[in-house]
Amino acid sequence: MSRWLLLSCCIAVLSAYSFAFGAQTNAPNTYVGSNVCKACHPNIWLTFPRNAHFQSIAIAKQPPELTGCEGCHGPGKAHVDAKGGKATIRAFSVMSQKEALEACLKCHTKDIARTEIRRSSHTQSNIVCSNCHSIHKAATPKLLLAKRQTELCYGCHTNVRSQFAMPFKHRVNEGAIQCSDCHNPHGAPAPAWKMGARPRMVQTAADGEQPCLRCHVDKRGPFVFEHTAVRVDGCETCHNPHGSTNARLLKRPVVFTMCLECHNGAGNFGRSGEGIPTQSASHNMADPKFRNCTTCHVRIHGSNADPQFLR
Ligand code: HEC
Ligand code: HEC
Ligand code: HEC
Ligand code: HEC
Ligand code: HEC
Ligand code: HEC
Ligand code: HEC
Ligand code: HEC
Ligand code: HEC
Ligand code: HEC
Repeated sequence: MSRWLLLSCCIAVLSAYSFAFGAQTNAPNTYVGSNVCKACHPNIWLTFPRNAHFQSIAIAKQPPELTGCEGCHGPGKAHVDAKGGKATIRAFSVMSQKEALEACLKCHTKDIARTEIRRSSHTQSNIVCSNCHSIHKAATPKLLLAKRQTELCYGCHTNVRSQFAMPFKHRVNEGAIQCSDCHNPHGAPAPAWKMGARPRMVQTAADGEQPCLRCHVDKRGPFVFEHTAVRVDGCETCHNPHGSTNARLLKRPVVFTMCLECHNGAGNFGRSGEGIPTQSASHNMADPKFRNCTTCHVRIHGSNADPQFLR
C-alpha cells in the first residue's frame, strides 16, 4: 500500500514538474547525442560499436544530423523528455516504406543513387532498404544484411531457388558465386548492351559491359569478327544464366534449333541478311552432320581469324 502511495506521489510530483516546465516540452526538438540513448536502449547501444554506422559517432566533427543514433532517428530531445514513445522520434516501425527509403537515402544518395534505385523494380514494388538490411539485428555484420544473401533473395524469389537446383547451373547454392555477382539489388545504370530492353537489375561494370565477362574473360574480346548475337543481344539470348536442363546452360536442348531462331533462311524474317538456306548443299538440315553447328562454327562467341567463326 505504501508503495502505491509513494508511486502516486512520484507521479504527482512528476506531472507537476512537467506542468511547470510545460513550455520546455514544446520547445523545438534538438539533438542530444548518442550517449543519452544508452540508459534506456542498452542492448542496441552496446552492439553499435561493431556497426559500420558507428564511425559516424567516432568522427566527432560531424554535424549532429549526421551523427550516431540521431543520424537515422532524427533529433532525440523530445523523445528523451517524454521518456520514450514512438511518436516522439523517427521510428521505423511506424514509417511508410517510402519514408524509410528516404531516411536511408539521406546519406546514401552518392553511393546508391547512381544505380538509379528510385527506378529499380525493387523500389517500384515497395521493397526498400530495411527489407534487406537490418541495422540492429543483422545476420551478416558486414553489409548489415537481414539474412545471408542467398537466403535473403530466395525468401522472395522462390522460383529462382529451383532454377539453381537444375542439372546445369551456376553454383550459387554451393557458395561458389552469389546473386550479387550478376545483379545489383539496388538497381542498374542503363547498359550499353541490350539497349531496347532494360535488363533485370543485372550488374553492369562502369563501361556497361555484361557482368558475365568479369569471370568469362575469354568471351570479352573485342574480336576482329564479332557475333552480333553475343555483343548486342547479350549472353542470355542463348544461355539461361541461372540454370538449365541443357549442358552449357543453353536455352535449347539441341544447339541448331537455337541458331535457327535467327539464321532460319527466311529472308528478312526476324533479322536481315543472316539467313542460311536450310535445304542447300552447304547447310542441309535433313543431314544430321549439319545439325551440330558448333562442330564447324567453333568460335561462336567471336573470332579473330574467320568471319564465319570457323576457327
Ligand atoms: C543507419 C540507421 C540507424 C542508426 C544509425 C540507428 N538506428 Fe535504430 N533503427 C534503424 C532501423 C532501420 C530500425 C528498424 C529495425 C531494423 O531494421 O533493424 C531501427 C530500430 C530501432 C529501435 C527499435 C527496434 C528494436 O530493435 O528495439 C530502437 C530502440 C533503436 N533503433 C534505437 C537506436 C539507437 C539507440 C541507436 C544508436 C545507438 C540507433 N538506433 C541507431 C536505423 C538506425
Ligand atoms: C528515458 C528512456 C529513453 C531514452 C533516454 C531514450 N529512449 Fe528511445 N524509447 C524508450 C521507450 C520506453 C521506447 C518504447 C516506446 C514504445 O514501444 O511505445 C522507445 C522507443 C524508441 C524508438 C522507437 C522504436 C520503434 O520503431 O518502435 C526509437 C527509434 C528510439 N527509442 C530511439 C532512441 C534514441 C535514438 C535515443 C537517444 C537519442 C533514445 N531512444 C533515448 C525510452 C527511451
Ligand atoms: C547519417 C548518415 C547515414 C544514414 C541516415 C544511413 N547511413 Fe548507412 N552508412 C553511413 C556511413 C557513414 C557508412 C559507412 C560508409 C563506409 O564505410 O564507406 C554507412 C554504411 C552502410 C552500409 C554498409 C555496411 C558495411 O558493412 O559496409 C549499409 C548496408 C548501410 N549503411 C545501410 C543503411 C541503411 C539500410 C540505412 C537506413 C536505415 C542507412 N544506411 C542510413 C551513413 C548513413
Ligand atoms: C533487395 C535487397 C536490398 C535492398 C532493397 C537494398 N539493399 Fe543494400 N545491399 C543488398 C545486398 C545483397 C548487398 C551486398 C552486395 C554485395 O555483396 O556485393 C547490399 C549492399 C549495400 C551496401 C554496401 C555495398 C554497396 O553496394 O555500396 C550499402 C551501403 C547498401 N547496401 C545500402 C542500401 C541502402 C541505403 C538501401 C536503400 C536505399 C539498400 N541498400 C537497399 C541488398 C539490398
Ligand atoms: C522482400 C522481398 C524481396 C527480396 C528480399 C528480394 N527481392 Fe528481388 N524483387 C522483389 C519484387 C516484389 C520484385 C518485383 C516483381 C518481380 O519482378 O518479381 C523483385 C524483382 C527482382 C528482379 C527482377 C527485376 C526486373 O526488372 O525484372 C531481380 C533480378 C531481383 N529482384 C533480384 C533480387 C536479388 C538478387 C535479391 C537479393 C539480394 C532480391 N531480389 C531480394 C522482391 C524481393
Ligand atoms: C550468372 C549470373 C547470375 C546469377 C548468379 C544470378 N542471376 Fe538472376 N538473372 C541473371 C540474368 C542475366 C537475368 C536476366 C535474364 C533474362 O532477361 O533473360 C536474371 C534474371 C533474374 C530475375 C528476373 C527473371 C525471373 O526469372 O524472374 C530474378 C528475379 C533473378 N534473376 C533473381 C536472382 C537471384 C535471387 C539470384 C541468386 C539466388 C540470381 N538471380 C543469381 C543472371 C544471374
Ligand atoms: C563470379 C563469376 C561468374 C560470373 C559473373 C558468371 N559466371 Fe558463368 N561460370 C562461372 C564458373 C566458375 C563456372 C564453372 C561452372 C561451375 O561453377 O560449376 C561457370 C559456368 C558457366 C557456363 C557453363 C560452362 C560449361 O562448361 O558448362 C556458362 C554457359 C556460363 N557460365 C555462362 C555465364 C553467363 C551467361 C553469365 C552472365 C549472365 C555468367 N556465366 C556469369 C563463373 C561466373
Ligand atoms: C549465339 C548464341 C550464344 C550467345 C549469345 C552466347 N553463347 Fe556461350 N555458348 C553458345 C554455345 C552454342 C555454346 C556451346 C558450344 C559448344 O557446343 O561447344 C556456348 C558455350 C559457352 C560456354 C562454355 C564453353 C566455353 O566456350 O567456354 C561459356 C562459358 C559461355 N558459352 C559463355 C557465354 C558468355 C559469357 C556469353 C556472353 C558474353 C555467351 N556465352 C553468349 C552460344 C552462345
Ligand atoms: C539472336 C539471334 C542470333 C542467334 C541465336 C544466332 N545468331 Fe549468328 N548471327 C546473328 C547476327 C545478327 C549475325 C550478323 C549477321 C550479319 O552481319 O549480317 C550473325 C552472324 C553469324 C555468322 C556469320 C555470318 C556471316 O554472314 O558472316 C555465323 C557463322 C553465325 N552467326 C552462326 C551462328 C550459329 C552457329 C548460331 C547458333 C549457335 C547462331 N549464329 C545464333 C544472330 C544470331
Ligand atoms: C560441316 C560444317 C558446318 C556445319 C555443321 C554448319 N556450318 Fe555454317 N558454314 C560452314 C562453312 C564452311 C561456311 C562458310 C562457307 C559457306 O557459306 O558455305 C558456313 C557459313 C555459315 C553462315 C554464313 C552464311 C553466309 O551466307 O554468309 C551461317 C549464318 C552459318 N554457316 C550458320 C550455320 C548454322 C546455323 C548451322 C547449324 C544449323 C551451321 N552453320 C552448321 C560450315 C558449317
